[in-house]
Amino acid sequence: MRYWDRILNLVRSFLVLALVLQVFSAFAASSEASGKQSYLVKCAKCHKLYAPANYTDEQWESWMAKMRQKAHLTPEEYEQISVYCASLRDKKQVKAA
Ligand code: HEC
Repeated sequence: MRYWDRILNLVRSFLVLALVLQVFSAFAASSEASGKQSYLVKCAKCHKLYAPANYTDEQWESWMAKMRQKAHLTPEEYEQISVYCASLRDKKQVKAA
């Protein structure tokens, strides 16, 4: 009996973990998607869209610090756009490898 209790507990922990991971990745995906939307709308008003992958992390962050003011981003939009831009850079790195 003890044995089965342990196994059940283990299974339960796994299920909880899987659920947490799923919620987390859904959240990440949705903020990536709204980041894309904000990026397209907010960052192409004054100039063409610049590809984050063409900049180093430091360059991009300092441009973002400047542009968040120009584009009047809310903290939320800034966060979402940063997530989206980071995902663009990751993809490029995968391709280059
Ligand atoms: C109100 C107009 C305006 C908006 C909105 C705007 N930018 Fe800019 N952006 C500029 C101007 C003007 C420059 C020229 C460089 C400067 O300001 O020193 C620039 C330059 C840049 C550069 C540097 C390009 C280079 O020379 O390599 C990047 C990258 C950039 N913007 C990204 C963004 C991003 C990301 C957003 C959205 C968060 C954004 N911009 C929104 C006006 C804007």
